[in-house]
Amino acid sequence: MTEDPAVRRSDGTFPEVRGFFDPATATWTYVVWGAGDKNCAVIDSVLDYDAAAGRTSTASADRVLHFIAGRDLRVEWILETHIHADHLTAARYIKSKTGGRTAISRHILDVLKTWEPVFGNAGATPDNAFPMDGSQFDHLFEDDETFGIGALAARIIHTPGHTPADTSYIMNNAAFVGDAMFLPDVGAGRCDFPGGSAADSYASTRKLIALPDATRMYVGHDYPPATRDPCCMATVAEQKQGNIRAAAAISMADFIARRKEADRGKPVPELLLPSLQVNLRAGDVGDALIIPVNKI
Ligand SMILES: [Fe+2]
Repeated sequence: MTEDPAVRRSDGTFPEVRGFFDPATATWTYVVWGAGDKNCAVIDSVLDYDAAAGRTSTASADRVLHFIAGRDLRVEWILETHIHADHLTAARYIKSKTGGRTAISRHILDVLKTWEPVFGNAGATPDNAFPMDGSQFDHLFEDDETFGIGALAARIIHTPGHTPADTSYIMNNAAFVGDAMFLPDVGAGRCDFPGGSAADSYASTRKLIALPDATRMYVGHDYPPATRDPCCMATVAEQKQGNIRAAAAISMADFIARRKEADRGKPVPELLLPSLQVNLRAGDVGDALIIPVNKI
């Protein structure tokens, strides 16, 4: 996990943001807090997972926690932009270490319904069944709900398409958009998972580029070409002008056609099965789900 030096350059506006990049899953985790404030939110944390060994570890999450402790910040919220299919969330671990509240969009209820027949609770013990009412999270956000991170005002907007439950978190001039949009030269998230919709994704990109031009859009992943290092942020103005899939000038028909073409035959994410099983449980790694090698 590396930090993006660009994020460290504060331009004096708030909120303050620190990004941590996990090269194994190309995921950006963020810590966000209001200038002069001590309360913070952690967005889209990563629990490291060695698929060959079936073993989780916490080096990435510990690095985030080390930063938080070093800044004397207090974790108030542990937020997910959606149920990830490519990495395990460290939400439960971070909650256990900090006492922060885990939260996600109420639309997760649709995602639970979609996946329950696949992963099921049949045969699960009460300890490792996943609740269908979303109570594995401390809070489910309604669309357009507002909340506070200390004195920093935040609101959510529903930005589905990649999954039905994708949510973007807006905090003053920063927007944490998960996989609804990527950096301009990468585009936007795939829409071929169950419940995904290219039409919804297009509508979500229109919501995001309607934010003020100076809004800093922080993305959930980066898949940089060989010519640049991973980055995490582009302004709305830059996205409107130059996003290869979702610039302002791109029509819905073009967006959908190109999305479907790009998603055709896309490989299943390597960590799809363990990710969904853990993330649908808000990061609870049950013993019955993943058996570490040292327990065999
Ligand atoms: Fe995703």
